[in-house]
Amino acid sequence: MHPEIHFLPDDRKVTVRPGTTLLDAGRRARVQIRTRCGGKAACLMCKVRVPDQTGLAPMNKNEELKLGSQSTEGYRLACQARVTGPVSVHVPEDPLKAAVRAQLQKQKEDQEW
Ligand code: FES
Repeated sequence: MHPEIHFLPDDRKVTVRPGTTLLDAGRRARVQIRTRCGGKAACLMCKVRVPDQTGLAPMNKNEELKLGSQSTEGYRLACQARVTGPVSVHVPEDPLKAAVRAQLQKQKEDQEW
């Protein structure tokens, strides 16, 4: 059975084979997870939040080392975290996209006055 991965806030779902990384699952679901190192646990840009990690394999030593204290706060590196069962993944918004969205919201509020 292939587990279903649910990506938030985009609300996209995809089923993948067990052992697939969250980064690859995100690509299949067409969810943009930032990466610069190509999945080598070097850039830390693929950090995602997974409150319930029962559907993920335990962290490897490298991931644990890279995340530091965030490893106990529900964060995972999407390029290292491997799927074992259904899981919900919170993907942080791209900073540029967030800045544009905030600017558009401000303009909208200014026009309402
Ligand atoms: S993609 Fe660079 S640390 Fe995961």
